[in-house]
Amino acid sequence: MSDRPLFITGATGALGRRLIHELLDTTDRTLYLLIRRKGRLSTQDRARKLLAPLGLDALVGSRVRAVEGDVTQPGLGLDPADRDRLRREVVEFFHIAALTELNGSKDQCDRINIGGTTEALRLAWDLLENGRLERHFHFSTAYVPGSLRPYRSLEDEMAPEPAHANHYEASKYEGERLVRSAMDAGLPVTIFRPSIVVGDSATGEVTEFNVIYPFFKLYVHGILNVLPARADETFNIVPIDFVTRAVRAIASRPDSVGKTYHLTSERPPSIGTLLRVKDIEFPKMPPVTLVDPEEFDRGTHSFVVNKVRRFIEPYLGYLRCQLTFDTSNARAALDGSGIAFPETDYEFLKRILQYAVDRKYLIA
Ligand SMILES: NC(=O)c1ccc[n+]([C@@H]2O[C@H](COP(=O)([O-])OP(=O)(O)OC[C@H]3O[C@@H](n4cnc5c(N)ncnc54)[C@H](OP(=O)(O)O)[C@@H]3O)[C@@H](O)[C@H]2O)c1
Repeated sequence: MSDRPLFITGATGALGRRLIHELLDTTDRTLYLLIRRKGRLSTQDRARKLLAPLGLDALVGSRVRAVEGDVTQPGLGLDPADRDRLRREVVEFFHIAALTELNGSKDQCDRINIGGTTEALRLAWDLLENGRLERHFHFSTAYVPGSLRPYRSLEDEMAPEPAHANHYEASKYEGERLVRSAMDAGLPVTIFRPSIVVGDSATGEVTEFNVIYPFFKLYVHGILNVLPARADETFNIVPIDFVTRAVRAIASRPDSVGKTYHLTSERPPSIGTLLRVKDIEFPKMPPVTLVDPEEFDRGTHSFVVNKVRRFIEPYLGYLRCQLTFDTSNARAALDGSGIAFPETDYEFLKRILQYAVDRKYLIA
């Protein structure tokens, strides 16, 4: 009980899973995980399934306490007995759960990313006022300013005139606004803003092929063959291990309360590099032609090109992203931690694509 337990939403997702694996590996803290039932699988079944690949499923019920809930429900759908237990024990709360589909509907995105954040904040206040809570950590995104317009994004501010490419970005923006209001009102919050999270820096490994991976799939499977982007434009991706290691290091610093951290690549790869990796390393993948983005926007391309528009629209902002990210807070916090900003170069792109091919998510 003196081990400073954590409460985590979104543990079954890509980032949450990686974070809890690291916490179980490197600390002896108790983890309370909010997990919803899915199909026939109960919350406890899902927790065991989550930990089985690590051989840690026996920890469910001891160091890992799975509590049933759903972030869209009042009080996160927690049973009052579970809520009371969280009050008695939890000192840190990581709100990670979200809908991360870039083509998610407005209703879905709002319910989970705005509604879920509202409920998470309500619980955080409750645990602060009636329990032992010391810190609340919120997972936002570097794309809160919206990816459709050039902008230099600073960590401790919100873009006054966001230009969102999809409902996901818009809902994360509103969610972060709520968190910032709570921060201003005295909740001890820290905000993390990763860019697009992809596989492990050394192995390319990732458990969920989400966010940008479905976009790769559209090309690799020959569903799309034109890309409305310029070769020198960049897209900001970060390896998952950088994000979770940085989150842990920053979360452990008392001076990170009230601050926001960009967890982004300082040298993002270009579209040209991505296509070069595809052509050289995976020559069997179908060819991709770059088309002028402005002509594409004006709809002056052929019927065939226009037909693909609806598939790539949710991703367009990321392909021609002219957002840049100031990383002063993250750089200062990670200085001396041994955690370096990641290399996201040719070799890294090759590694993450190769992993997706090896796992048969992509065909090459
Ligand atoms: N991945 C990225 O590229 C990226 C980039 C920037 C920021 N982020 C942010 O980082 C966080 C984690 O992203 P991720 O890639 O790990 O997401 P993910 O793989 O899509 O996982 C989403 C998680 O949220 C949970 N969830 C969704 N709706 C829920 C609900 N109604 N009640 C309870 N849990 C619910 C899911 O649970 P189920 O298993 O039950 O579905 C899952 O555990 C998110 O806040 C995301 O916005 C991600």
